Amino acid sequence: MSKHVLWIAAFGFLLCGAMTVMAAPPPATGDQAEIAALKQQLAELKKSAYHPELGEQMLGIQIRHARLWFAGQAQNWNLAAFELQELKEAFEAVVEQNPDNANFQPQRLADILPAMTNGPIRQLRDAIDHNSKPEFDKAYDSLSAGCTGCHHIAGNDFLVIQRPTTPLLDNLRTAPQPAKK
Ligand code: HEC
Repeated sequence: MSKHVLWIAAFGFLLCGAMTVMAAPPPATGDQAEIAALKQQLAELKKSAYHPELGEQMLGIQIRHARLWFAGQAQNWNLAAFELQELKEAFEAVVEQNPDNANFQPQRLADILPAMTNGPIRQLRDAIDHNSKPEFDKAYDSLSAGCTGCHHIAGNDFLVIQRPTTPLLDNLRTAPQPAKK
């Protein structure tokens, strides 16, 4: 590196330092200083936190989607309500952690996901509230269509979601609990 370049680098460094000092808020005292320190710690923690990839999050969603089906077929409405809530939370985590996923640019995943899934989730909740298997089956198919629709928007036409036919795991009982006497 020539001397010239070094001088430019040193000057830039000093300039950045001066700008940082000028832009910094006045020094805080007591509680304020503590809050500022905590805020900075929080920002650092967020940066270093584990950020799951969308494909990984989808694996969890796939399992919940399958469990929801078998709960509905067993007319175990408590279990179905639970799995639906888990699925909803998993979708919310996707929006929170991957709001601007590259697959959807220039559109935003954070806009597309709720648009594709909110309606079917509401229909499923109604079906579960009504303890209605015909309503459940219909709403479930519209959820699966929402899953596939989103995959289509992402350019993944080969990811087609359907009703499962075989439970992946059978150690979680789907039969409803006998009513307590
Ligand atoms: C935001 C739109 C969106 C919605 C809604 C959505 N997916 Fe996905 N899904 C994706 C994208 C994008 C990928 C590809 C991820 C990647 O490239 O890693 C994917 C991948 C998958 C995969 C493949 C994962 C793998 O590694 O084999 C499965 C399975 C899957 N999704 C299931 C579902 C199910 C089931 C639902 C509905 C309950 C659903 N998805 C809803 C966007 C979505």
